[in-house]
Amino acid sequence: MTSPLFKPLQLGAISLSHRVVMASLTRMRAGAPDNVPTELSVEYYRQRASTGGLIISEASQVSQTGQGYPTTPGIHSAAQVAGWKKVVEQVHARGGKIFMQLWHVGRRRLSISKRGRSKIG
Ligand SMILES: Cc1cc2nc3c(=O)[nH]c(=O)nc-3n(C[C@H](O)[C@H](O)[C@H](O)COP(=O)(O)O)c2cc1C
Repeated sequence: MTSPLFKPLQLGAISLSHRVVMASLTRMRAGAPDNVPTELSVEYYRQRASTGGLIISEASQVSQTGQGYPTTPGIHSAAQVAGWKKVVEQVHARGGKIFMQLWHVGRRRLSISKRGRSKIG
């Protein structure tokens, strides 16, 4: 009997070949100071994409004030969106699917503000 882990799954409009999902992993490899995914980010996700497999991206801040750690990618500027498009194109080219994990770190932001940025919370 085949394990359910290896059975296909329909997630809304997304068809997965199996249920092994890559968890969200913060890499802190976006470019500084703009927090744009880099060529290294593109290669990282490309390497991990496979047909019918799902990747959940590293957490990506929805605004500058939501960033909790240096060089985590954002998804609030045109350059960041363009950087993520390159990632998605490579994942799709290998038949993979990718969801983005969004974050705003809230009061965690305070530890960064000590290094001279604005406070929140
Ligand atoms: C370096 C590192 C970065 C991580 N980044 C995130 C993240 O961005 N978002 C998230 O929800 N979890 C993050 N996690 C948690 C992992 O996705 C995962 O849930 C955790 O490592 C437990 O996995 P396990 O139960 O298979 O051991 C991170 C974990 C590690 C070790």
